Amino acid sequence: MNTRTPLIAGNWKMYKTNSEAVQTAGRLVELVADTADVDIMIAPVFTALDPVSKVVGGSRVGLGAQNLYWEKEGAYTGEISADMLVSAGCRYVIIGHSERRQYFGETDDTVNKKIRAALDAGLIPVLCIGETEDEREAGQTFSVLDKQVKSGLKEYVADDLAALVIAYEPVWAIGTGKSATTDQAQEAHNYIRSLIKDSFGPAFADAVRILYGGSVKPANISQLMDMPDIDGALVGGASLDADSFSRIVKFK
Ligand code: PGA
Repeated sequence: MNTRTPLIAGNWKMYKTNSEAVQTAGRLVELVADTADVDIMIAPVFTALDPVSKVVGGSRVGLGAQNLYWEKEGAYTGEISADMLVSAGCRYVIIGHSERRQYFGETDDTVNKKIRAALDAGLIPVLCIGETEDEREAGQTFSVLDKQVKSGLKEYVADDLAALVIAYEPVWAIGTGKSATTDQAQEAHNYIRSLIKDSFGPAFADAVRILYGGSVKPANISQLMDMPDIDGALVGGASLDADSFSRIVKFK
């Protein structure tokens, strides 16, 4: 048995106005008040962070952002720094989500800089990696993961990364209703852990949490969590509803 505390994280993407976000967060706080031995995070849009932080403050639910910019401050119109996220109540930040890689030019290089900024500010970075359908069909899954992990974490040492969380999200499983099978997910997670072991040593590889993301629902979470290398989930669609997300949180 490993000693990794599961993390169930909700990525709200570009959904919910402030009043909707506050309402969902408030309901979630009530529904998960009786949980233990699981970390919980929700990541609303930037504009909802401050009001949601007032609702989740002191509760079982931690607050995360969906992105950041690596500079501390400056003439970077439209961007938000790690310290600004901390000041809005965040403890976590999602970095390198496939939608950011696909639509907003995120690369392993920008991911690498963002992780540094997050760690320097005391945020927990949730690094997202995963292959596309074409890459999987071409037999490139492991080489894609290899590159994303090695380039994304280039020039770090294990001591820097103690807070790091990795999320394996096969792009073909995101928002499609087509989750990876438990065997496919376990195989990828095990491979990612072996990459981490090669680069950062066995103690860190044993401690780092690797979440699965891609069409996680109340109906499939417990099978996924039964896998030895799956330490939680990054949930999109099913995190938007407090009731369904709380059922994922209570997967046991
Ligand atoms: P999904 O999204 O749960 O809606 O598939 C997961 C994600 O993008 O993090």
